[in-house]
Amino acid sequence: MNDAVSGKASVGGHALSPKTRRFLTETRLGHLIDGELVLSADGATMPVIDPNTGLEFVRVAQGGAVEADRAAQAARRAFEDGRWRNLPPMKKEAVLRRLGALLEEHREVLMDLDMLDGGIIRAQTPFFVQFGIDVTNYYAGWPSKIEGAMSPTGANLVVQQVREPIGVCGVIMPWNAPSAVPLGVVAPLACGNSVVLKPAEQTPLTALLFGMLCLEAGVPAGVVNVVQGLGHSVGAALVDHPEVDSISFTGSVATGKRIQAAAAAHLKRVSLELGGKSPQLVFADADIERASMAAAWAVWGHSGQICTAGSRVLVHRSIHDEFVARMVEASRALKVGSCFDADTHVGPVISQQQLDQVSRYVEIGRAEGATVALGGRRHDADGYFFQPTIFTGVRNDMAIAQEEIFGPVMAVIPFDSDDEAWAIANATEFGLAAGVWTRDVVRAHRASQRLKVGTVWVNTYQLNETSVPYGGVKASGFGRSLGAVSIEEFTHVKSVWFNLD
Ligand code: NAI
Ligand code: MG
Repeated sequence: MNDAVSGKASVGGHALSPKTRRFLTETRLGHLIDGELVLSADGATMPVIDPNTGLEFVRVAQGGAVEADRAAQAARRAFEDGRWRNLPPMKKEAVLRRLGALLEEHREVLMDLDMLDGGIIRAQTPFFVQFGIDVTNYYAGWPSKIEGAMSPTGANLVVQQVREPIGVCGVIMPWNAPSAVPLGVVAPLACGNSVVLKPAEQTPLTALLFGMLCLEAGVPAGVVNVVQGLGHSVGAALVDHPEVDSISFTGSVATGKRIQAAAAAHLKRVSLELGGKSPQLVFADADIERASMAAAWAVWGHSGQICTAGSRVLVHRSIHDEFVARMVEASRALKVGSCFDADTHVGPVISQQQLDQVSRYVEIGRAEGATVALGGRRHDADGYFFQPTIFTGVRNDMAIAQEEIFGPVMAVIPFDSDDEAWAIANATEFGLAAGVWTRDVVRAHRASQRLKVGTVWVNTYQLNETSVPYGGVKASGFGRSLGAVSIEEFTHVKSVWFNLD
């Protein structure tokens, strides 16, 4: 194929699998609308940047309101014609299981793409990719289990509670986990909905591949559509489109607020998974060796670009110095570099903009009077690299303790009592997750009750399971993904009354 927007495989010296090269060079890298790969009506394209080098390696169609409209209309038609929605449950399950198998077959491609535009290190990509496969296989089992109910009534009435799909679901995704795309799409699909997916402009490729695999698995054309482009154009147009019944958004608080406000004009259903400034509480009775390693990795993992990054580390004053020394020791030797190198521990951040944001916050932290115990500088290489950075002497009211940095930057804050620990942990606009490190079972339970967050991990961090609901409270958003609650998110209950009199 010789389109302006097929990849020229100018992907540096990266050792990509042949399948990945084929995907990049032979696919029309556009939108997937009504089962067709199409370019933008106005021919606009946008660059995809490799964060390992800072160089453009491919161009992708950049859509706007026209593409949002075409995709929304296609999704509406596909929903109304019922080919997917009314497919018998076991047939839906067979299609979704095929999708899971196709994702397996494309494991290498998904890993390559995670590294190439997502900047996820080679050692971590298998976990991201496996999670997407697991989510697909988990929801593949749901269509036959979405049951209604009968309400108790007198003899002359029958009242059914029927669970119906909500229609066209808009899914707006961030860039930090491209291969987790099934997380946003497979639950609404399992419920019989149609989907318009807008991936982040930084990571458009995996979503396109995913959409193509949905078609190959047997999802009818128009049921899964993918539109590419910037948030304020194609994304906003989707939120504003009358044929889109719900919006599931993952990303920043600022954009989440804008989306909720825009959706309000249509009284559209919204779920928001926003950021965090998640605390990790380390008590004096913790297993210090385990806790210090885990606490550090909870911030270095994917260079801190994970919504649940445990970026505020609250440590009991009696163990503070030893704990910090251990984290510094364990982190000093980490290799920062290209995510294609098998021995890299910390890869790049996603973009120049993100790198600038991280650098700016580190300057703010210095100016606020916090101490740099490790790192604090850009890493000396092309691409968007920043050294793992530990700030000590942080007060919880400093900007580096309150605002989501989304980079490898940790703020360490000492505390003197359990009550003070809960108070500091909760003194944030966010409420996504928290970690608790203690061997005292009473303290662990107390913590789980006191912490105002969507997830508490005790003596572990960042575990997830397809069956365990995930989401936040306060400014971290509302709505839950994963597990059975996601089925409720993407259906509504219709009550049907029959009078037998
Ligand atoms: P963003 O929240 O602006 O973008 C996320 C998604 O929303 C992208 O697909 C984007 O195109 C879309 N979008 C942007 N504006 C939109 C609008 N008006 N209407 C509809 N869709 C829109 O995040 P961005 O700008 O990429 O990153 C900024 C900061 O957000 C990061 O530094 C980080 O702190 C935070 N963030 C948090 C994430 C999380 O998982 N919690 C993920 C990504 C970013
Ligand atoms: Mg933005």
